Amino acid sequence: MNIPLVLDAEPVSYIIGNDALEKSANKFNKYKRIIVITDENVEKFCLHVFKQKLPLINIDGVITIKSGEEHKTINQLTYIWNELTRLNADRDDLIVNLGGGVVTDIGGMAAATFKRGLVFINYPTTLLGMVDAAIGGKTGIDFEGFKNQVGLFVAPKCVIIDPVFLHTLEDVQWQSGFAEVLKYGLIMDKELWQKLEGIKYNEVVDWNMVIIKAARDKIDIVRCDILEKGIRKNLNFGHTVGHSLESFYLKSANPVTHGMAIAAGMICESWLSSKIFNIECTKLNTIVDMIDKNFNRFDFTTDDIPGIMQLMRQDKKVRENKHNFSLLRKLGKAVHEIEVDDKLIIQSLEFYVNRKSCD
Ligand SMILES: NC(=O)c1ccc[n+]([C@@H]2O[C@H](COP(=O)([O-])OP(=O)(O)OC[C@H]3O[C@@H](n4cnc5c(N)ncnc54)[C@H](O)[C@@H]3O)[C@@H](O)[C@H]2O)c1
Repeated sequence: MNIPLVLDAEPVSYIIGNDALEKSANKFNKYKRIIVITDENVEKFCLHVFKQKLPLINIDGVITIKSGEEHKTINQLTYIWNELTRLNADRDDLIVNLGGGVVTDIGGMAAATFKRGLVFINYPTTLLGMVDAAIGGKTGIDFEGFKNQVGLFVAPKCVIIDPVFLHTLEDVQWQSGFAEVLKYGLIMDKELWQKLEGIKYNEVVDWNMVIIKAARDKIDIVRCDILEKGIRKNLNFGHTVGHSLESFYLKSANPVTHGMAIAAGMICESWLSSKIFNIECTKLNTIVDMIDKNFNRFDFTTDDIPGIMQLMRQDKKVRENKHNFSLLRKLGKAVHEIEVDDKLIIQSLEFYVNRKSCD
């Protein structure tokens, strides 16, 4: 018997751009109660904006988790389950995940697992959330030091993307989201890349346009391949090396943002692409220069590379001990399932550490 996937049951709806918040008012109609999951910063900076733009929505409970990647843990998930139990939440209620990628990842997982699944809507409040994390149905937590080790695919009912929340975002978080924006340019959207080329993230004038374009890029991909069996893997460009660097720095005194790690990963993986697909040096240098313009290099050394390689082996994309990468065939076009051996990956990390340029 074929049982249809819940993910396919109803398409996710999206409202994107200035005024999306107001336009989402009718999404709350059929639910008994509204419970917001957020974090301490978002509660302070964004909850009043949400209430102000949606004055007729009655919020019945607010569950506030600690902010930051270090809290995307089983403990915080348990805390949310406890709070949902205390609030006596049930399947007639609606969960609103209001926050960045940590909140939409953990809040989505909490909603999807509590009483076998509550309906949830994502309201991303970071740039990274708007162009990436809130879209596409991946939820989860970090576990035993490994990123997104436990989680499930489950689609939100809707994703409401309104740049209004971004006014209070810290500079470093703008930068983090910008890494994913650049990624869309590199893997599928040459027009977006050309609009941004040579610009620093804090010089972008029309964020509404950038967010709409980047979010649509992600939606287009996940619509074709929600479970990441094929083309969605292209989104992993920069993430194989990037995630291992993120794990590497997770326990350090200065944990890095997701975007910083992905930016470093994109430098290494652009180098791999250039080796495997003979991308010209000038193109590789253009990509590396653009990333360097926006992100400082990490300070790991060649002595750290074995540890980073060890973390990479935990990656969900490793099959039968082979590293499967999503790489660039050319600027604006990614391909997936490219096997790369350890030796070349190590060389790409050395390219990064030694600040070599392609020649
Ligand atoms: N599910 C996916 O497909 C997917 C994709 C990419 C990233 N992610 C995950 O997303 C997470 C990173 O997301 P993120 O960068 O949004 O981080 P985040 O959620 O930790 O937010 C960053 C910081 O900004 C604060 N913040 C959020 N919105 C704010 C606002 N409007 N004003 C002021 N402060 C605000 C938060 O409290 C936090 O301190 C990672 O855990 C990553 O694994 C998931």
